[in-house]
Amino acid sequence: MASLRSLAASTRALSRAAIRRTALPALTPIATRAYRQPTRDVMTGELIQLPDIDASLLKVEKNTKPKTRPPSSKLVFGHTFTDHMLTIPWSTATGWGTPEIKPYGPLELDPSSTVFHYAFTLFEGMKAYRQEDGTVRLFRPDKNMARMNKTFDGEQLTELIKKLVVLDSEWIPKEKGYSLYIRPTLIGTQNALGVGPSSDALLFVICSPVGPYYASGFKPVQLLATTKYVRAAPGGTGGYKLGANYAPGVVPQAEAAKEGYSQNLWLLGDEHMLTEVGTMNLFVAIEQPDGTVELVTPPLDDIVLPGVTRDSVLELARAHARGEQKIPGLPEKLKVTERKMVMKELTEAEKNGTLREVFGTGTAAIVSPVDKIGYEGRDIVIPTGPAGLGPIAKGVLDTIVGIQTGEIEHEWSVVANEPKTA
Ligand SMILES: Cc1ncc(COP(=O)(O)O)c(C=O)c1O
Repeated sequence: MASLRSLAASTRALSRAAIRRTALPALTPIATRAYRQPTRDVMTGELIQLPDIDASLLKVEKNTKPKTRPPSSKLVFGHTFTDHMLTIPWSTATGWGTPEIKPYGPLELDPSSTVFHYAFTLFEGMKAYRQEDGTVRLFRPDKNMARMNKTFDGEQLTELIKKLVVLDSEWIPKEKGYSLYIRPTLIGTQNALGVGPSSDALLFVICSPVGPYYASGFKPVQLLATTKYVRAAPGGTGGYKLGANYAPGVVPQAEAAKEGYSQNLWLLGDEHMLTEVGTMNLFVAIEQPDGTVELVTPPLDDIVLPGVTRDSVLELARAHARGEQKIPGLPEKLKVTERKMVMKELTEAEKNGTLREVFGTGTAAIVSPVDKIGYEGRDIVIPTGPAGLGPIAKGVLDTIVGIQTGEIEHEWSVVANEPKTA
C-alpha cells in the first residue's frame, strides 16, 4: 500500500513527461490530477494532502565567504555561479519541505540516487536583469513555472527565486546585454536502483551571471539539416525540459561541427519536417505572392518545446500584424502562423527568392539568425541583413530586450525587489 501511495504521489512530482515513462499505466489518471486537488489513496480511498511549497517557511543562511566576482567581460556562459543557491526537498511521505537559501556548494547525494541512473532531471532556464537604480526584474517567470511544474505552487517558487536573485543581485552585471541566468532543477533522489517513480526529489535553483550570447555582435549560425538523428519523436518527451532530451544531442552537434556547421536543424519523418534548431525554437519568414510576409514556426506538440521566447515572438508579431503594437522593422503586411513546414517548401522559397529570414529563439541568445542550412549535400543560403540580423529578428529582439531590461514597460517584466525610493 505504501508503495502504491508513493507511486501515485511521486508521479505527481516529476512532471507529466516523467510520468509517461515511469508510472504504471493504471496509475496515470491519478498522476495527471492537479496537485493541489487532494488525491485519494488508491487502496484506502483516504484523502492525501501533502504540504505544497511555502515561501514563508524560507530559511536563509548567508554565505560568509563570498567569492570574488569576475569582471563581466570575462564571463563565459554558465561557468560562474553566484554565492547562494535555493534548495527544497520533496518526498512522498512529507511533501515539500523547508525551502533554504544557503551558500552555493556541492550537493551530497547517494550514488544510488535515481537521477544518476535513469535521468530523473527536469530543468528550467530563465533570466533576471538589473537596472542602474538596482531594480531586479524577471522575464515571464510564470511561463517557466507553468512549463516545469505540474505539481507545486509556481507562484511560491517564483517568490523564492526573487529572494535568491535579490540576495545575489550584486552578481547581476548592469551592462547592456548582461543578465543572471537562473537554472531551477528538479532531480530524483530516491536511494534505490530499479526503474520506477522516485519517492524523493530535490528542487534546487542556481544562478549564473552571463554576458551577451554573441559578445561581438550577432553572428549568424550555420545549420546542418539532419535526418540521421532525431531530437524528439511523436509520443516522446520533446515538449519537456527533461535532462534526458539533451545528452543525445551532443554527438549530432559534434558531427555537424566537424562539417563546419554550428547547430543541427532537427528534421522529422520522410517529408523532412522542420522542428527545432539546436536547443532553440525555429522561425522562418517567407514572402507570399501578394507581398505579405508569413512568419512560420512549427506547432507545439510532443516534438517541439514550448519556448518562452517563441511564445513572446509570436505574441509580439501577432500584435504587430493586428496593428495593435507596431514593431519597427517588421513588414507592414505580416501573417503569423504555427504550422507544419517541410524542407521542400524551404528549398522552393530559396529557388523563388522568397525566403526572407530564418532564426532560432531561446532564453540564452534570445534570437539567433541563420545564414546557411546544409541539406542533401549543398547549402541553402538565407539573407541576414547588414548587422547579421534580418529585420524581423532585429525587431523582436530589440522589443524583447527592452521589456526584459525595463526600458519598455510591460507586464512580462516582473520586478523582484522593492524599487528604491530616492
Ligand atoms: C529544445 C529547446 N527548444 C527551445 C528552447 C527555447 O526555450 P526558451 O525560449 O523558453 O528558452 C530551449 C531552451 O531553452 C530548448 O532547450
